[in-house]
Amino acid sequence: MAEDAILGFLESNETISDSGQFAADVRIDHNEIINVIKSLHGFRLVDAQDIKRENWVLTDEGKSYTVAGSPEVQLFLAILPEGISREELQKKVDPTVFKIGCAQAIKNKWVEMGKQLVSRKVQYVEDRVKDLLLRIQDGEVVDQEDIDALKKRKLIGLQTWKGYSLQRGPNYAPKRKKAVTDLTREHIQRGNWKDLEFKEYNFSAKGPPAEGGHLNPLLKVRKQLQNIFLQMGFEEMPTNNFVESSFWNFDALFQPQQHPARDSHDTFFLKVPSTTRELPEDYVERVKCVHESGGYGSRGYGYDWKREEANKNLLRTHTTAVSSRMLYLLAQQNAFTPKKYFSIDRVFRNEAVDRTHLAEFHQIEGLVCDRGLTLGDLIGVLHDFFSRLGMSKLRFKPAYNPYTEPSMEIFSYHEGFKKWVEIGNSGMFRPEMLLPMGLPEDVRVIAWGLSLERPTMILYGIDNIRDLFGHKVDLNLIKRNPICRLGID
Ligand code: PHE
Repeated sequence: MAEDAILGFLESNETISDSGQFAADVRIDHNEIINVIKSLHGFRLVDAQDIKRENWVLTDEGKSYTVAGSPEVQLFLAILPEGISREELQKKVDPTVFKIGCAQAIKNKWVEMGKQLVSRKVQYVEDRVKDLLLRIQDGEVVDQEDIDALKKRKLIGLQTWKGYSLQRGPNYAPKRKKAVTDLTREHIQRGNWKDLEFKEYNFSAKGPPAEGGHLNPLLKVRKQLQNIFLQMGFEEMPTNNFVESSFWNFDALFQPQQHPARDSHDTFFLKVPSTTRELPEDYVERVKCVHESGGYGSRGYGYDWKREEANKNLLRTHTTAVSSRMLYLLAQQNAFTPKKYFSIDRVFRNEAVDRTHLAEFHQIEGLVCDRGLTLGDLIGVLHDFFSRLGMSKLRFKPAYNPYTEPSMEIFSYHEGFKKWVEIGNSGMFRPEMLLPMGLPEDVRVIAWGLSLERPTMILYGIDNIRDLFGHKVDLNLIKRNPICRLGID
């Protein structure tokens, strides 16, 4: 609007001599006019010259006298026609009004200040100061003498007003052509690119700030756990396969084929490809035997083991599937070497989703494989590991896993919750699992597993897992969550 007004006016007039006057004429705010002038000047549609004017404006004190009257008049009016005692007068007016009022009224010869009595020397007074201030406020011109007096009393001050005078510039047009930002296929086809004005590149413009690069709290806690395992001398297992065969996920772990976890209610099976392509045949044969009729001092489960069941592909339900592959590989080496392995990665279970469960989570798993390990070693390693996470009070409860014996649930005393909370599961892998792999008889494997979500939720004070992982996560949480340092209180 302001732009049209300026360009339109200059179409039929040579100049706009005063942008302030022009703004008042077209009833547009002067600041808006100034902004448009700056832009038009930048594109040389107009030429603009600065104009400055100095105006007298009232100070706050000056403004207050336009309402209440000058102090000398206020003082004069407070004096009763028959006179008033100094004390009484002082009580009637404001202390600054009294001070200034007295000085001015005496100067004007309006009052007489006796020792006791203050009295009027004239009958009426006019408030010239107030009148002058009101006139200045209205933009009227007043005598230099009066200006000087008011300035001396700090009732008025100079203000510089800035505006422009304008003429048409070298690029003047009654309407600004909008510069085109992109050369399009249509411009080229129609040939009108020749007439278009293209916007110049602004190489110093700031781009939008990069938004990416924030870690989910889970990844921060995972990094800390990785460091702890590495400090304890553990090697990371390759967990880069979410799809696993039932064989490695269950059978190799001596989990019977009728076990409820192997039902589609608990496990996601793959439709395509529904079965695995290859398994180590001689080992498969030994696993079949140990399931059906035992061996190595075990009676087995006494059922018909089916190869088709073992071939079924699934989304791994625990990273222990990776542990079983790694232990099998270890057993294939010529000479046995002790190992400490860990992994932290995703696992999948067909569970009903609620505040604390999703159909997938991250499992942390650690294992130590060496000759002659005992349950005492497991307890010792667990104390070492968990105290590095800041959990030094541990308790163990006997538990059951198809692949470990003995098995223990791990509890830790939570100082905040003031109670014992379950933090993981552990055990010694059964001989029915290790011996068919080909590991030497005296090799024992101690292992434990826990979820990454649970400690992360406790550390970050998140009570609904859907706020931490999945499509409902608030990106601001991801952007703002603090760093994680485990085991430091
Ligand atoms: N695989 C177990 C689970 O899913 C965790 C575990 C790992 C238990 C190793 C014992 C030994 O909970």
